[in-house]
Parts: sequence; C-alpha cells; structure tokens
Amino acid sequence: MDTKKETRRAWAKNRADMESNPRRKTLTNKRFWKKLSWFGLLSKVFELGIRLSPFYQRGKLNASNPVVNRVDFMFDSLPPAFEGYTILHMTDLHLDLIPQIVHKICEQIEFIKADLCVMTGDYSSLTGGNGYQHILVPMKQVVSAVHQRDGMVATLGNHDSYKMVSPFEEMGIKVLINETIDILRGNSKISITGLDDPHYYYTPEAVKALAASDHGFKIALVHTPALYDEAQNNGYDLYLTGHTHGGQICLPGGIPLIVHLDRGRKYYRGKWKYQGMTGYTGQGVGAVGIPLRYNTQSEITLFTLHAREAAIR
Ligand SMILES: [Fe+2]
Repeated sequence: MDTKKETRRAWAKNRADMESNPRRKTLTNKRFWKKLSWFGLLSKVFELGIRLSPFYQRGKLNASNPVVNRVDFMFDSLPPAFEGYTILHMTDLHLDLIPQIVHKICEQIEFIKADLCVMTGDYSSLTGGNGYQHILVPMKQVVSAVHQRDGMVATLGNHDSYKMVSPFEEMGIKVLINETIDILRGNSKISITGLDDPHYYYTPEAVKALAASDHGFKIALVHTPALYDEAQNNGYDLYLTGHTHGGQICLPGGIPLIVHLDRGRKYYRGKWKYQGMTGYTGQGVGAVGIPLRYNTQSEITLFTLHAREAAIR
C-alpha cells in the first residue's frame, strides 16, 4: 500500500467534508460562517460608499500594481552551502478578483532568477470549494513566468479547494499538504514543510507535520501566522506566510482595520521575530472582497538567505 497516497486520499475526503460544511468550527472554536458573512457584508457596504469618490480609482490602482520587495535574512543555522539562496514568495494572489493582476505579476517576475519559488495560498477569491477552474489558466501564466532552479512549492489557503491540488501538480507545482521536502546542496540540506490552511481548515495533522520534520535548517510555509508558536517549538528557523494582505484597507500609517487573524495578530505584516524564529508575512499579491487597497502595498517578495558562518569567513 502506498502510504503517501492513502494519507492524501484521507486528507482530501476530510477537506471536502469541511469545504461543504459552513457550520463547522475553526481553529479557535469560532463558527466558520460567522467570519465569512460579516466580512462580506462590511466589504460591500464600504465599496458602495466609496465607489463614486476619487478615492475609488486610487484604491484600485493600489491593488492592481504589485511591487517586488527584496528582503535579506541572516541566520546562524543556515548551512554555508546555502549562502545567498534566493526564494521568490507570492501569497494571496486572488487571481480572479482583478483580471489584469496576472499580467502585472508576470511583468514583475519574468526577469527574476530565484533558487526556489514558494506560494502560501489563496489563489482564488471564492470559498468553500465554490469553484477553482477559473484560476487555472491565469495560474499557468504565472507558472510560466517564474524562473527557478529547485522548483515551485505551494500550500493551500482558506479560499482554496482540495480540488486544486491535482491541476497544480500537473503544472509542475509541488503542493505540500502537511508534508516536508528537502533541498540539497552537496551534503547540506534545508527542509521545507508546508501545511494545509489553519484558518478555515485546521486539523491536528498540521501540527504533527511540524513535529515530524527532521533537524537542520527548517522553513515552514503556512497560509496564516497562526501556528507561529508551534513552528518555533519545533525548531523552525523561518516561517513564511500571508493571508492578512497587511490589512488591505488601512488607515494612514498602515494601521489595519481588520487582519483576519485569531492567533498571531501582531505578525500581520512584514518581518517579525518570535523567540529566535524569523517570520515574514507577505502583504499579498492580489486583493480580496473588494479590488481596493489603502495604505498597504500589493507585494511579491524576493528573499535572500545569508549564513553568518559564511559571512565570518
Ligand atoms: Fe487567506
């Protein structure tokens, strides 16, 4: 019996049940449908209120033009063989809300050469398995614009369906569902563990996957920052995440009104540290709910990892 196939099959069955049950409870024991309905209603009221004002077009432009942010990280634990390793990170692409976003993404990434590309969920804007086929063509366009050496790795977000896994893998994207892969350079390795979304679809298998990863330099890919403490407890060095869009609609100074986090709320944007573990919460490539952004920036991130040991030599 192929254990991995069996585990995937059991996960897909459970995910399908959760996607079709809006009355289920989430990680922090809240009702799923309550989260969904309040946000949808507030977004629409806000959009209607602002539609005729000059701020509307400005918000649309903000949301439709992702920039590439370059971020350097220094680690004591990074094997010197990985000095200068680059990771292209895209999160919350929401390829269906702003039709032109796919072209903007391709324009921004087609000249970037990265070692690895990682994506941390929310490719669609729909929820509860309500459709995914419409994002497959734009997703293929994104995949063909990425230049990487060690592959493309993805996790699912709360807007994504279990049905996306097969078509994504056919495109050459390795989808990690509570699984770990290793990347090798000679005798050195880094490990990448990717979890299913903990925001709407948390299961104990996510934490078990964090615990199962071997020692060494470890990177967690999780749709939300919610499992920051579990990752740190299990010796992770870097936690890459998204989901919050940096607040998407923020007051001047980038002060968010809503971050959609029940755990890890202070890690809603950018670089952060939790007891020695480094984290980064991307502001999202696209937008959700309404195609607008204020006082936040749509973002694609290019990380460069540095080994302190290599710098000392
Ligand atoms: Fe999300």
